[in-house]
Amino acid sequence: MSIDKMNNYDFGIVGLGVMGRNLLLNIADKGFAIAGLDLDPQKAESLEAEASEGHRIKVTTQVKEFIGALQQPRAIMLLVPAGKPVDMAIASLVPLLDKGDIIIDGGNSYFADTDRRFNELSGMGIHFFGMGISGGESGARRGPSLMPGGDKKAYERLRPIFEAVSAKVNGEPCVEFLGNGSAGNYVKMVHNGIEYGIMQLIAETYDLMKRLYGFDTQTVQQTFEKWNEGELNSFLLEITAQILKKKEGDQYLVDLISDWARSKGTGKWTSQNAMDLQVPVPVIDAAVNMRDMSKYKPERLEAAKLLHWDGHAVDLPATTLIDRLKQALYFVIITTYAQGLAQLTVASESYSYELDLRVVTKVWRGGCIIRAALLEDFRKAYAANPDLRNILLDNTIAQKLLSTQASLREVLKDAIANGIPVSGYVNALSYFDAYRSEKLPTNIIQAQRDYFGAHTYERIDQEGIFHTLWD
Ligand code: 6PG
Repeated sequence: MSIDKMNNYDFGIVGLGVMGRNLLLNIADKGFAIAGLDLDPQKAESLEAEASEGHRIKVTTQVKEFIGALQQPRAIMLLVPAGKPVDMAIASLVPLLDKGDIIIDGGNSYFADTDRRFNELSGMGIHFFGMGISGGESGARRGPSLMPGGDKKAYERLRPIFEAVSAKVNGEPCVEFLGNGSAGNYVKMVHNGIEYGIMQLIAETYDLMKRLYGFDTQTVQQTFEKWNEGELNSFLLEITAQILKKKEGDQYLVDLISDWARSKGTGKWTSQNAMDLQVPVPVIDAAVNMRDMSKYKPERLEAAKLLHWDGHAVDLPATTLIDRLKQALYFVIITTYAQGLAQLTVASESYSYELDLRVVTKVWRGGCIIRAALLEDFRKAYAANPDLRNILLDNTIAQKLLSTQASLREVLKDAIANGIPVSGYVNALSYFDAYRSEKLPTNIIQAQRDYFGAHTYERIDQEGIFHTLWD
């Protein structure tokens, strides 16, 4: 590691945990001089040990030393846990900063917090923007997907660094300015909501193969690996196939892992905000619900005895079952993206983000957790029609759904008849069936509301607002 003069580091990172450390090394690999700050001396030391010859890296536990090392106007990225730690980090930096300096929040911050921080800091002349970062540890090190939004001028100044470190797809960087205000954090939040949905769907697929079809783990593993070579190709399917290979002694490691799923909250925020915006995202809701259901283990153990009931085996050739399930999974994954993207469409209008979903889907094609071959189809759909309200309304996507829906219905018939919980799958299909219904039974709900609460209703044969004395 070379010794650099003070005051000449291009970029600074606060928080040298998994994401901070790996992103810092990635930036250093690309030839930028980078300073890191962490109050924990062990983290600082271990990072120094990881740096290689030619890297221009400075690591410190002292805020003053960190700020003094940075070129002016300074650019500092926070990679600390969402919530209070972000406010604390900002408070520790601000007294030492000058007007024109930039702070970027690279964590999974709640979008409303980003708006508040933006307003507080812009009053002090400090540029602030939120940038979602996806790809986990290896993404941060080798090329993440970056979702910046907010202060466009500040982003433009740092664009060369972000384009250099991001993942690339066909030579195009997986980073682009996404929109106003908290757009970057919002898009990352919905990315995570979709991530929750797809993870749940893959878990249900595993359960169907094991419990309903009676396949062994090796068959499930090989099937996922094979599917990943085709149109279902995606990071989440790929890693699940790898997970299912891992053994400890003669046992599969997954069989030793507790089924109590944890979460940090981004999936729940997606669902909560979708409800505020009145956008249906039922697969994401189901995924959040199932993580919650998983933690009721003692109750589930009791219910497993009291409510025990065995279905019957599905007696069909394995190839038929696998082919059906492949089509079904393709269908439900498309509808999950459709829900998240529809949420972004509405959020963009409600919060004036001015998102371009062609750009969002382009940025998601590589580096991020929900990267998948399908993203290219979605990008094409938005490129052909920038005003597309829902990807279910794109002709190519619609054909994909129409050609796979029959298989999904067959899969669900067996799953439901045998009592296998498939709420992700079921909600994906119900969303599709509701969305394509010319008439929903919600006229009954309007009549009920008017009956008991005089809430009035509209008619299809006359203009105006009506109330009936029903009894
Ligand atoms: C990513 C991931 C990342 C993180 C999730 C985990 O895009 O790299 O989404 O942000 O792994 O926040 O979320 P849960 O702990 O809620 O599952």
